[in-house]
Amino acid sequence: MSRLVVVSNRCTVPRAGSAPGGLAVALNAALRESGGIWFGWDGSIADSTRRVPQRDDVDGIRYATVPLQKRDYEDYYKGYANRVLWPLFHYRIDAMQFQPEFREGYRRTNEYLARKLMHVLEDDDVIWVHDYHLIPLGHDLRSAGVDSRIGFFLHIPFPPFDVLRALPGYVHILWSFCAYDLIGFQSDNDLRNFIDCIERGTGAVVDDDGNISWGYRRSRAGAFPISIDPREVRDMVGNGRDVKTVRRLQQSLHGRPLVIGVDRLDYSKGLPDRFLAYERMLDRYPETVGDVVYLQVAQPSREDVPEYNALRLELEGIVGEINGRFAEFDWMPLRYLNKAYARPTIMNFLALARVGLVTPLRDGMNLVAKEYIAAQNPDDPGVLVLSEMTGAAQELDSVLRVNPHDHDGIADAILTALKMPLEERVERWQHAHAVITGNDIFNWSERFLRQLRATART
Ligand code: G6P
Repeated sequence: MSRLVVVSNRCTVPRAGSAPGGLAVALNAALRESGGIWFGWDGSIADSTRRVPQRDDVDGIRYATVPLQKRDYEDYYKGYANRVLWPLFHYRIDAMQFQPEFREGYRRTNEYLARKLMHVLEDDDVIWVHDYHLIPLGHDLRSAGVDSRIGFFLHIPFPPFDVLRALPGYVHILWSFCAYDLIGFQSDNDLRNFIDCIERGTGAVVDDDGNISWGYRRSRAGAFPISIDPREVRDMVGNGRDVKTVRRLQQSLHGRPLVIGVDRLDYSKGLPDRFLAYERMLDRYPETVGDVVYLQVAQPSREDVPEYNALRLELEGIVGEINGRFAEFDWMPLRYLNKAYARPTIMNFLALARVGLVTPLRDGMNLVAKEYIAAQNPDDPGVLVLSEMTGAAQELDSVLRVNPHDHDGIADAILTALKMPLEERVERWQHAHAVITGNDIFNWSERFLRQLRATART
């Protein structure tokens, strides 16, 4: 079997013996099987960079990593990736901060990463590129003479044509996809948007099976909804490692039901609307006042990108207002934690919660939704309230789906979830759980790689 080379912007070399999470679990399995290697940015900023990538070997997985120069970090990572593509691909033209230097930095850094990756590549490799930071990488590798199979998977949504074309030079981005043999999206919705964009923006022709004819090249596009390893989640729940913390949370509830949200602190996650919807619930249903606890973990993210800092301040204002209005000396309606917790702790928190609140304004998939389902006790499961605007909602049709802009609708859904009888909770949970076990993270990577390996070599 040809060797797999995974490429992602962030490539954190784990400490030996530490537990990898989510994506790493699936990719590690595929990398081990093929004797492969994971390449990407090591998360550091350095004035000068080494000629060849740093190699590490941890728990049987090989890594090749490089630092970024300050200018590239600013223009490529903070600028084009996170202030242009991230908002735009989440349908937020208004939040996009396009600057020509960002675009130039994106082009320059992708070329730099491609040059470094060339030191690692061997002839017969299968290359799998991940996410919006690296859309042009395939083209840069082709220009350097790489004729291996190259696949690309987009972890975030793909926007409709009228949103995409707000980006100066969007046609160039669209053409860069033609370097890939297989292009994967999270959902049929994203796939449809992509096909519409390339047909209208480049004139490429796509048949009903997702085969794309770019004129001189052929690719294939498909939907590959990413997932989790439900067994890993169940193992983390109740493995005794976090007993003290979890017991403390439980005791602090004094028998009240717990509503939980766990997100990166990101404007795509819909946190202000979520908080206001919870406030609406307290307003409209006075019986809930003093009788429910909402715990929101908002893990700090991209803190030196200005829009993220502005969101943090906005959230602090809303939380202060809600708690100021409703709190009692022995009850706080909204516990807002602007910090990160270890994965096993989070899984145990999810397991304790009667309601999982996942209401992004737009999300490629949202794995917390799936983790919430996997963490539940099958005999007494909680209820997931899930935004219709997530990839997960296209798969999980037995959960309570809501419009994340509709505060009344979310307020009602939380109440419905809190009051839902056991029998209905079990029935809805069983359906959702079957979806996740039917398409777990291993199925996801196997399906993508099988299709990629089956494409004809260019
Ligand atoms: C999203 C993206 C990932 C990214 C992650 C964390 O899930 O799809 O590519 O790694 O956010 O963001 P960060 O900017 O810290 O890498």
